[in-house]
Amino acid sequence: MPRSILLPLLCLPFLCLAPSLLAQTPMPPSKKLFLKNPMDAHSYSNPQIVRVTHVALDLTADFSKKVLVGTATLDLARTQPGDLVLDTRDLTINAVEVSVDGTKFVPAKFSLGPSEPYLGQPLSISTPDDVAKVRVSYQTSPYAVGLQWLTPPQTAGKRQPFLFTQSEPTYARTWIPLQDSPSVRVTYAATIHVPKALRAVMSAQQDLKAPLTGTFRFKLEQPVAPYLIALGVGDLVFQSTGPRTGIFADPTVVKKAAKEFEDTEKMVQAVEKLYGPYRWGRYDLLILPPSFPYGGMENPLLTFATPTVIAGDKSLVALVAHELSHSWSGNLVTNASWRDFWLNEGFTTYVENRVQEVLFGKERADMEFALDCNTLKKLVDELPPQDQILHINLTGRDPEDGQTEVPYYKGALLLKLLEKTYGRDQFDTWLKSYFEKFAFQSITTAQFREHVTANLINLDAEKGKLIDLDAWIEEPGLPANAPLVVSKRLDAVDAALAKYVAGGSAKEIDTSQWVTQEWVRFLTGLAGSANPTRLQELDQTLGIDKRENVEIRLRWLLLVVEAQYKPSYPTLAKFLQTVGRRRLIVPLYTALLKTPDGKDFAKTVYGKARSGYHPIAQATIDGLLK
Ligand code: BES
Ligand code: ZN
Repeated sequence: MPRSILLPLLCLPFLCLAPSLLAQTPMPPSKKLFLKNPMDAHSYSNPQIVRVTHVALDLTADFSKKVLVGTATLDLARTQPGDLVLDTRDLTINAVEVSVDGTKFVPAKFSLGPSEPYLGQPLSISTPDDVAKVRVSYQTSPYAVGLQWLTPPQTAGKRQPFLFTQSEPTYARTWIPLQDSPSVRVTYAATIHVPKALRAVMSAQQDLKAPLTGTFRFKLEQPVAPYLIALGVGDLVFQSTGPRTGIFADPTVVKKAAKEFEDTEKMVQAVEKLYGPYRWGRYDLLILPPSFPYGGMENPLLTFATPTVIAGDKSLVALVAHELSHSWSGNLVTNASWRDFWLNEGFTTYVENRVQEVLFGKERADMEFALDCNTLKKLVDELPPQDQILHINLTGRDPEDGQTEVPYYKGALLLKLLEKTYGRDQFDTWLKSYFEKFAFQSITTAQFREHVTANLINLDAEKGKLIDLDAWIEEPGLPANAPLVVSKRLDAVDAALAKYVAGGSAKEIDTSQWVTQEWVRFLTGLAGSANPTRLQELDQTLGIDKRENVEIRLRWLLLVVEAQYKPSYPTLAKFLQTVGRRRLIVPLYTALLKTPDGKDFAKTVYGKARSGYHPIAQATIDGLLK
């Protein structure tokens, strides 16, 4: 197919001249329809013909223009004759060269296809059979969705600018031309040039204390999916927290972060004991500015984390347990496409909960999971049926549409059911063998089904009757035997809540021993019955408006919006203008839209906050407020 795209180009011999000339020659977008990858609805790439196996980057971060500029050199492995197709989005391609021997490069013919929403543009490159490497010279757009460029005032230390990438699910193509499908695993190497005062870090092996020379080198020898390639640049220092763990953060944040996350090594050991060795060498954290649109991102060797989980009392460190667990479920055994996303997140939510049990005990682990179950039950009533399916059909849809709680909690519940049915020993033995069997592979839901059927379910036919994989994986809703977790401590909160809602006084509630999860349960339970008088009483008695913990704060602010409790609107505005984590801000904007004057307030606040939000968060809130 790609050959025919290139045919018109053959009539333009000048295109084969020097790369600089190619750069100046805009090519008409191809009219030909590009076939999408048959295995992955969100990639144009054709790994079944030519596959990228290694990516070597040489990039300069230009903070004045907000662009990355440089080259990506790709190693190829070929199965059939044909041209290479890469994914790109908002990239300017300056030149493409190919090499047979890996050292001498000559200009190659290439063509960018039409741009499609979510997918970007296919880049088709003429690759005769003997081509072993392709080098693409390119630059990113200042509006690249996968990049956020921050000014010094938007960082903790306020001294230097900051840049970070977010490649999951399909944003690697906004800063690297590659085969952006999680089924195409690559090793990578990078040389990154930055202004002299800054440090660059990546999801790879690196010199933790590399001198600030302006040039940093990286190498990742384990093959990973492209969505795991990540870069951060800023005023960063390193502090060790253990033999193989540590923190990169702004100098003003690093000490507090190191204290908060001092138990990370214990977490690594907990997963290793359950499911086999940690295969990546080091496990470090990069603490990002508060505009990071996620809680955490499991970039290999270097989890990216929001500063909003540094609560001062370790109450939110489960986030690290989650991202760390992805080192097995996700980074080692990877979803082959975004419709298999639940294999990443469901397994990780399950493993995260086991880590919590080891570190904090069963009571706390159950509390967390009980809260998740509650969220899931509510959500299942709200989502359209097709979005309640684990093996969701995302063809023709934005992969972001699949990012609900369903893959996380329904996925984890399926594993909990298997654990309950077969017993922990047998279940753990199976799960460990699953990680070993599929290590460094990208797998489909069908491959999971085959493996679990042969190696766990079929071990006991009687018990097997309790596991309806079709219902769990291919159908909406929650099967009746979902092992929803309950928690005595949360039940006690519910009792106090019932009394309070029935007219009791806030003074009667004993919150002295409450942990974050209990506060969350209480405040969530008040939704639907909040009014200004009651909120004022609550706040005066329990001092909630002053609490910094973002999980508590979010639930409180949701009540503030519901009751239109104006005394707390300044706090609400401040929160929305300092934090860009999508899971914290989207519910608040959504709630504001449901109140009479909320839309105006939301628009005013967003007007001030927008430029500080990440492009991913901007896109979501733009959609909400349009
Ligand atoms: N991999 C996800 C984040 C993600 C998912 C980014 C899909 C882009 C697309 C990460 O592991 C995650 O789940 N983060 C959660 C925190 C976690 C404790 C549930 C988040 O950011 O809220
Ligand atoms: Zn996750």
